[in-house]
Amino acid sequence: MRCLLSFLLAVCFLSALVQSLHCPEKSEINVTCDKAGTQKYTLIGSKYYFVGESKVNWFNAVHICRRYGGDLATIQNATEMHAISTYLISLHYDANRWLWISGNDLVTVRNFHSIATGMPLTYFNWSAGQPDYPNLEHCMHLWLKGAEFKMNNWQCNEKAFYLCERQNDARCWDGF
Ligand SMILES: *[C@@H]1O[C@H](CO)[C@@H](O)[C@H](O)[C@H]1NC(C)=O
Ligand SMILES: *[C@@H]1O[C@H](CO)[C@@H](O)[C@H](O)[C@H]1NC(C)=O
Ligand SMILES: *[C@@H]1O[C@H](CO)[C@@H](O)[C@H](O)[C@H]1NC(C)=O
Repeated sequence: MRCLLSFLLAVCFLSALVQSLHCPEKSEINVTCDKAGTQKYTLIGSKYYFVGESKVNWFNAVHICRRYGGDLATIQNATEMHAISTYLISLHYDANRWLWISGNDLVTVRNFHSIATGMPLTYFNWSAGQPDYPNLEHCMHLWLKGAEFKMNNWQCNEKAFYLCERQNDARCWDGF
């Protein structure tokens, strides 16, 4: 019995490996969620994202991303930041296109956490002079400053577009 299980596990593992070798990542995926419908995500760097085309407050942006199988984006390093900025600029998004992301310091001022992972943020790429207004502006967004998108904090109940990333289903596991 144990041998059979091991064998099956090995087969699964190998087929996953072969698949990952032979199937290049798709440049876009269609994610369908019951009731919400289908949302197209685009590969930017190594993750899938979509840009919300309506202006909503930060809380509503959290809901909308979730509804479509995503979360507000948690940007983890300069590589991701650069890929996202380049992508947004390629779409001709200008300085008026502010996009909510997952960071917020609603619990403790100046202690920014991701609403998506619940973890403290470790990567920041603030535009000059940011973050400001510590007791007023608790939610993070991207905006175009000069030639690149940067991070800023703003009032959560203001309305902006938003950047959702496909939920990382491997974030947690149940064990074996
Ligand atoms: C996603 O859906 C659109 C139609 O809505 C289709 O044209 C496209 O090929 C689909 N993409 C993938 C990767 O399935
Ligand atoms: C940045 O994060 C991505 C995950 O999105 C990871 O694949 C990559 O190795 C990281 N790059 C650096 C330089 O840490
Ligand atoms: C800041 O973000 C830009 C993209 O907007 C990126 O090119 C740059 O490498 C980032 N810098 C740091 C220090 O993360």
